[in-house]
Amino acid sequence: MSLRIEQHISLQPFNSLALPAYAEYFCSVTDKQQLLAALDYAREHQLEVTPLGGGSNLVLAGDLSGLVIYLNIKGFSYSVADDSVEVTFAAGESWHQGVLTTLQRGWYGLENLSLIPGNMGAAPIQNIGAYGVELADLFVSLRAVEIATGKTCEFDKAACQFAYRDSLFKNAARDRYIILDISLRLSTNPVVNISYPALQAAVAEAGLEADLSPEAVSQLVCQIRQTKLPDPAVTPNAGSFFKNPVIADSAVAELHNQYPEMPTYPQPQQLSKIPAAWLIDQCGFKGVRRGSLGVHKHQALVLVNYQTDGGGTGEQLLALAEELRDAVWQRFAIRLEIEPRVYGQAELADGSL
Ligand code: EPU
Repeated sequence: MSLRIEQHISLQPFNSLALPAYAEYFCSVTDKQQLLAALDYAREHQLEVTPLGGGSNLVLAGDLSGLVIYLNIKGFSYSVADDSVEVTFAAGESWHQGVLTTLQRGWYGLENLSLIPGNMGAAPIQNIGAYGVELADLFVSLRAVEIATGKTCEFDKAACQFAYRDSLFKNAARDRYIILDISLRLSTNPVVNISYPALQAAVAEAGLEADLSPEAVSQLVCQIRQTKLPDPAVTPNAGSFFKNPVIADSAVAELHNQYPEMPTYPQPQQLSKIPAAWLIDQCGFKGVRRGSLGVHKHQALVLVNYQTDGGGTGEQLLALAEELRDAVWQRFAIRLEIEPRVYGQAELADGSL
């Protein structure tokens, strides 16, 4: 099918925070040929390119100039080895649908990542993770098209430089590639991982310790997420709005003198991760509202757009984020870093605005 490029298209239905913003030029691509044609068009007309996936990890602070390319490439393929399978998902496949597909086929490993919003192609950019598992644990490789040349390149796991909510594609390769598909290695043996405390507690409460299947883990993860996290289809949000800060154990020890109950997750190299939700909660922001926007009442790390009075704007959301960052800085001397990508406004390297 030929490529259709439109002008002045509202991006409100394309971002899970439902923020109002327009794309100067917009097209939806359903295969690699269309993507290459869109990139040719952008090059010819000297348009900046913004790839758009599920729209669940971005903040639209203003209109986007240039060409927004909506990645609607679908499909998956697989090859089976002895006790594992390598599955390749096209970038436009929904993450959660993909998780369900693998479970239905008896391919295991993704169950802890159930119900994460967004599409397959975005998953490696921030190395999505939840309940003790992250994408990097299952990742084999990805294929991406270089925006400047249209060349297809392959990146293996090492090349992607995965870290906590981080990868090459947020750093040296930022804005240089569009991910086409991702390949994951899954197990055909039903092994489960319930190391994450909240998940372990849910397993115990359901009385499932003795005979725990990956399908049951997936269902429990869905239940936990549904209780704690707002459904973007009902209350627009972008999941965790800040990364959990990683600080030196020496600083943790000092904070523990004053806040012995502060939760910490030990990391390598004498570092610890502190839940940003706890820090924000301590500053009294859980459930706070600012106009149409607010801090979710069950999870202080999630900012929500209640869409009252016409809904909040990206600028208002970023103002609320700054208010939270200031409060946490004043009280704990910890700088929170915004997790979703901010578009339509200059972003500083330290995550501030
Ligand atoms: N907590 C509070 N107040 C709150 C919420 C949580 O004090 O309002 C405390 C909890 O009691 C707990 C700790 O904070 O001790 C951690 O809370 P939780 O298990 O809910 O996880 P999180 O650290 O807030 C991270 C991820 C989530 C992921 C969960 C589960 C980040 C930035 N967020 O949240 O990811 O689902 O762990 O693994 O790492 C996302 O990235 O969009 C996301 C939802």
